[in-house]
Amino acid sequence: MNQETLTELRRLDQQSHLHPFTDSGSMHKRGTHIMESGSGCVLIDETGHNLLDGLAGLWCVIVGYGRSEIVDAVASQMSKLSFYPSFFETTTEPTIRVAARLAERAPGRLGRVFFTNSGSEANESALKIIRAWNKIRGKSAKKKILTRTYSYHGVGIATTSMTGLPNCTDPFDLPLPGYLRVPAPYAYASGTGMDEVAYGAWCIEETARVIESEGPDTIAAMFVEPVQGAGGVILPPAGYLKALRELCRRHDILFVADEVITAFGRLGCWFASEMWDLDPDLMTIAKGLTSGYLPLGATLLSKEIAEAFEANGYFAHGFTYSGHPVPAAAALANLDILEREDLPGRVERDIGPYFQKKLATFADHPLVGEVRGLGLIAAIELKVPASVAAANMAGARAAAIAREEGIIVRGIRDLLAIAPPLVIRHDEVDRLAAALGRTLDRLRD
Ligand SMILES: Cc1ncc(COP(=O)(O)O)c(C=O)c1O
Repeated sequence: MNQETLTELRRLDQQSHLHPFTDSGSMHKRGTHIMESGSGCVLIDETGHNLLDGLAGLWCVIVGYGRSEIVDAVASQMSKLSFYPSFFETTTEPTIRVAARLAERAPGRLGRVFFTNSGSEANESALKIIRAWNKIRGKSAKKKILTRTYSYHGVGIATTSMTGLPNCTDPFDLPLPGYLRVPAPYAYASGTGMDEVAYGAWCIEETARVIESEGPDTIAAMFVEPVQGAGGVILPPAGYLKALRELCRRHDILFVADEVITAFGRLGCWFASEMWDLDPDLMTIAKGLTSGYLPLGATLLSKEIAEAFEANGYFAHGFTYSGHPVPAAAALANLDILEREDLPGRVERDIGPYFQKKLATFADHPLVGEVRGLGLIAAIELKVPASVAAANMAGARAAAIAREEGIIVRGIRDLLAIAPPLVIRHDEVDRLAAALGRTLDRLRD
């Protein structure tokens, strides 16, 4: 991109575009980055520089950029039928086929698919379905929702209320009443000095205590990211998720697996719910469903809940674009790639272990407090160096240096989160690790 075009675009961006999750003032001082193209795991930015994408866009581009198979499927569906809703007792072929494929693949009792445009909408839809289901079965008093600290469930009023990150809730005076928080199994940040299994067990006791004191008859559901992503890649310690699942079952609290990040192979399995045998009552997905080529999310329901709805007559919920045929066509092509290239298996057996082994070498670095991860998701906890004045800023500083070193990773508080596309090659993992090493050294200096 020539300098004149770049200057013009940056000016227009500043004048007219409100960016999501951005400090506009500081961004415009430096000038917006403008991505120009992408192929595989590599992006080209406004300067023509090649950047290795260690965050798969926003945890979503699992099959990599520029897959012509998806582009062709989208173009062909667009020419055939660009849109028709799934209201009015009608739908379209790609929509039916994605629903059937997901229902077949989905773990346990999940057998019906409700389509949305995003993860937030999938969680908002889950909330409404749960509320209506409890009403149908005569348990309207069950309305409270449990989530954990450091959780991220989206940006609607209710999904923000479920999100356990003060920087997401505080500016909006949320959460709403009835959205309860229990502790995440984040031993590293707990300051207790407990090991992660003991801390996980304490979290379960604390969750049980909150359920008892609020009254199980007032609690509808608990939403759980099996691995908490945006909150800082927090992994469940041994025994924790099983105990949490049992606790919910015992109190007739629906268990909702928010698999917006974990579904479709990132952990080395199709769904995290299978890995930990969670048998969720509902599951929400988005991101990897289309690899981000087009927006698509979904709420999956157990057959029991779906049949209760179906027996109850009219289901008064849906978005104009619920089941849009074009993202559905993208999802079908994306699922074909995932299956044909067995990307979940590749993460489990090959590239996941290689990636984790490479990152584990940073555990002894003087600026590193902890390295943790599973499959193709990881976090590096940073000790805040003197060069970073404020706490919670080391991640952003490190991510900015990493970018200069040719990779994109995400800074969260004082950690780096890394989650590359599932197609990342071994030599690209080497490049990622080398750039991270240079980043840590520069951060220390
Ligand atoms: C676990 C989880 N749930 C929900 C969401 C919200 O999805 P969206 O941004 O598509 O609304 C996200 C987004 O990062 C997420 O990570």
